[in-house]
Amino acid sequence: MSKKLFIKTYGCQMNVYDSARMADVMAPHGYVPAATADDADIIILNTCHIREKAAEKVYSELGRMRQIKESRLDNGDDVLIAVAGCVAQAEGEEIQARAPFVDMVFGPQTYHQLPGMVARATQGERVVAMDLPVEEKFDLLPDATGAQGPTAFLTVQEGCDKFCAFCVVPYTRGAEYSRPVAQILAEAHRLVEAGAREITLLGQNVNAYRGATADGGSWGLGRLVQALAQIDGLARLRYTTSHPLDMDDDLIAAHRDVQTLMPYLHLPVQSGADRNLAAMNRRHTADDYRRIVERLRAARPDLALSSDFIVGFPGETDADFEATLQLVRDIGYAQAYSFKYSARPGTPAADATHQVPERVMSDRLGELQKLLNAQQVQFNQAMLNRTIPILLEKPGRHPGQLVGRSPWLQAVHVHAAGYGIGDIVDVQIDGVQPNSLSASLTADDRRDAAA
Ligand code: 5AD
Ligand code: SF4
Repeated sequence: MSKKLFIKTYGCQMNVYDSARMADVMAPHGYVPAATADDADIIILNTCHIREKAAEKVYSELGRMRQIKESRLDNGDDVLIAVAGCVAQAEGEEIQARAPFVDMVFGPQTYHQLPGMVARATQGERVVAMDLPVEEKFDLLPDATGAQGPTAFLTVQEGCDKFCAFCVVPYTRGAEYSRPVAQILAEAHRLVEAGAREITLLGQNVNAYRGATADGGSWGLGRLVQALAQIDGLARLRYTTSHPLDMDDDLIAAHRDVQTLMPYLHLPVQSGADRNLAAMNRRHTADDYRRIVERLRAARPDLALSSDFIVGFPGETDADFEATLQLVRDIGYAQAYSFKYSARPGTPAADATHQVPERVMSDRLGELQKLLNAQQVQFNQAMLNRTIPILLEKPGRHPGQLVGRSPWLQAVHVHAAGYGIGDIVDVQIDGVQPNSLSASLTADDRRDAAA
């Protein structure tokens, strides 16, 4: 009889990809996805450690998991509870102390060992696995089973060597590792054969990608994008997340030359103040960032940008914060994420003396988000009456309605009779809501629903 696996995923898209691979690696052992945690044989929390709030969510969820485990034990049954991901890597011992009922704690570079770990836990062993580095993980994981829909993630790179002063990633995900080119091309072909029309290349520092080729050379991300663009049936490519320093000439050229590379780029800057950027160990100035964006826009004039910002980094003054607002005004973002600085144990900035008071952080975050929201609204408003291609991704809430994505990642609602999920269709934008657009088919694209 098949057994049931429930995975709850927190945090970044890399974790979404990893969760799918954990399901892949357990499938040959008879595990099928469980609809809810209540009827699962194994529950895995795939966790995120990037900010304190993200990590704390895991402990409150573990409270619920304990109740499930207790009621199963009361019924003479059991469920294995596992904590995976970056909280497991960073706080393995704390998890065991705070939640002793947890059966398995294992970090992001150990997922290929999952079947063996499950077998040991089933025998009553408390399993703890925190191996870094990553090299063997991708070799030993089974082939990705393929896309669940028209969009797919493909991890090409993991880990980070940048050591930004606020960030846990170099500690939880380890050193940079790039998968070999041939492995990535093969996985991309499989995803497309399984129905993917769009692939998003993932990496903590994806544009630092430098993967080995069969002839002993290596390719950067620009070259990889060029090669992936040759795959028949693959209509859209994206990549995330990038560091400004790794935005090299080849990659900028790919934005000019590769039409399937979508004109939307998440390029975190964190701050617009040079003093802050230096203290963060970002190793570029605000003007360096402006110049990179200028070059990208020269290569691809319709490129829209997204970013991450941290307010209240230790030592941030009013003038520093003003410099961040100025950078946002200068660049003009389509979308962005912004966070209050959260001191993470073990990172250099956590010990800094000039921590910014909570109230000041809240005020700054409010002001920054107001500006970013206004820019997002303006960006979306500018779509009104334009005709743009959307990739239909899923059914909408109303009968006959489908939801697609624009090249700029906006959700677009449309009644597209005669079209189905996975089609790319030109639509005319006729409505703009805060978080989505609505559209109708252009005359050219109208198809008889019965056809
Ligand atoms: N505090 C607040 N935000 C952080 N990020 C990373 N570490 C921290 C931290 N300690 C943000 C950065 C990064 C995004 C993924 O999370 O903006 O780009
Ligand atoms: Fe963290 Fe990104 Fe900096 Fe790496 S480049 S340390 S992942 S913020």
